[in-house]
Amino acid sequence: MEKYPTKNQKVIDWVMSIAKVTEPDEIYWCDGTEKENKKICSLLVEKGTFIPLNPKKRPNSFLARSNPKDVARVESRTFICSENEIDAGPTNNWAPPKKMKKMLSKLMKGCMRGRTMYVIPFSMGPLGSNIAEIGVEITDSPYVVANMRIMTRMGKKVWTVLKDKDFVKCFHSVGMPLKKGQTDVAWPCNPEKTYITHFPETKEIISFGSGYGGNALLGKKCLALRIATTMARENGWLAEHMLIVGLKNKKLGLSSYVAAAFPSACGKTNMAMLIPPKSMADWEVSTVGDDIAWIKPDETGQLRAINPEAGFFGVAPGTSIKTNKNAVESCRANTIFTNVALTDDGDVWWEGLTDKAPKHLIDWQGNDWTPDCGRPAAHPNSRFTAPASQCPSIDTEWENPAGVPIDAFIFGGRLASNTPLVYQSYNWQHGVYLASTMGSEKTAASEGKTGEIRRDPMAMLPFCGYNMGDYWLHWLSMGAKLDKKPLIFRVNWFRKDSEGHFIWPGFGENMRVLEWIVKRVNGQASAVESVFGYSPTYQDLRWKGLNMSEERFNELMSVDVNMALADVKAQSDYFKPLRKQKRLPEDFEAELLLLQKRLERKK
Ligand code: OXD
Ligand code: MN
Repeated sequence: MEKYPTKNQKVIDWVMSIAKVTEPDEIYWCDGTEKENKKICSLLVEKGTFIPLNPKKRPNSFLARSNPKDVARVESRTFICSENEIDAGPTNNWAPPKKMKKMLSKLMKGCMRGRTMYVIPFSMGPLGSNIAEIGVEITDSPYVVANMRIMTRMGKKVWTVLKDKDFVKCFHSVGMPLKKGQTDVAWPCNPEKTYITHFPETKEIISFGSGYGGNALLGKKCLALRIATTMARENGWLAEHMLIVGLKNKKLGLSSYVAAAFPSACGKTNMAMLIPPKSMADWEVSTVGDDIAWIKPDETGQLRAINPEAGFFGVAPGTSIKTNKNAVESCRANTIFTNVALTDDGDVWWEGLTDKAPKHLIDWQGNDWTPDCGRPAAHPNSRFTAPASQCPSIDTEWENPAGVPIDAFIFGGRLASNTPLVYQSYNWQHGVYLASTMGSEKTAASEGKTGEIRRDPMAMLPFCGYNMGDYWLHWLSMGAKLDKKPLIFRVNWFRKDSEGHFIWPGFGENMRVLEWIVKRVNGQASAVESVFGYSPTYQDLRWKGLNMSEERFNELMSVDVNMALADVKAQSDYFKPLRKQKRLPEDFEAELLLLQKRLERKK
């Protein structure tokens, strides 16, 4: 047998050089087989990281409890280490690459002592797809290996596709070496020394100290967004924080795929797996992806998208049969749960899963829990890692290496006031501008004044690996090159009335808005020109099965001109740092002015 499973000398040299620095007890090259997975899961059970769930209730599934200090992505410890600070831009933490690497190499010295170093070859996207990319993750966390097997196409087949080509180098360590004889903990990590670093020029990721989610499963946010955005810019494609859904209506003869971006906690997974209400059962919704889309123009100038991931790393709380039946069914088996509660019969529970909480649980920190104890049973960011193939609504084309054709982009935030339910941009440039100014209102729980908008351009604020102004320019120039430009829409499911009640029911009822969007794409729905874009009138949407008066709908669509003018000023202020860096697209200044003029004429 050959010593290494790959002949790619760049992989071998890199793995060996990392081993020399980190000094693991052993190096293990992952092959991605079922046998290997069984071994890794048994090891995790033995180490206390995994608790096997009741096989009758949740076959082949496990619960992991993290260190309470390691429960989410840490944006404050996330860095883009481009050569020049301006290339990271005002929205990213920046550090000079040489300095960061020097500091990291000190941390890495001997950091895998007492541990096994795993080498994980993985493909983001169907193996061999011309939209896919290959990464190799080195990690000292078997929990990461088990999760990467669900979230990516992982294993020995990747070497065959990689051949001697380049790959994204992904280094990960929990940052907790073991001394001789020292017993390990169930969730090793190093919260005081956590660094999630990206080197866009050399396409490298170095993550140290955290074992959780996007900090450790490096294919996801680090590769598929932060590094991929730089690759996409260099090579004329788009790497986006978007779900992809298929919307089909045989009766109406309509069929489209749309990609949609929403900031965290705006129901992205729900929209990706939407179940239309009975009154709209003529629509079929299918899931291609719930979090990330890689989108490339084909030879005809049509954008085609793949979901680079193979699984869902979904937020558990709030997920139920009522809110997202497809997500609940996706994690019926072969799933890793992290930081949810354990029931007395060996199953899992989280807030919102059932209307009534069980009488007794073991909470996410391993303590007894009763409904009156005043603590949540599951961590608010607790997760399920489930294979996408288990999703009942998975699209038949979800693994098509050529991707699916995208007809529309949808951008949404969480805004209680002055942002209509839906409107279409006048054109591509206006649409890119609308996407760049999207955001969510700050709540009392977050910093800043309540009602103030936290902008999250294209829902990419923590995920764009380069200067945000250059990213917008890239979007603008992509549009200029496309023969078949998708239409661009803004939506807002979260508008409230003067009494603070949501006006729009959301969830499956969003299908009514999606129907209008697909009809617009196909030239089958009318719209009126408004200050913000093309809007539907009451008559343009289907209402059968939903109690929504014309008056209430108009409230949902209304715009207060003075508030909108104040927002023009706020948008201009928000552009200031990029204007100062001379990285704000001129088109945006023009859009800002046009919006102001349209509003002033309405006064
Ligand atoms: C995620 C996020 O976990 O966007 O997907 O934060
Ligand atoms: Mn996300």
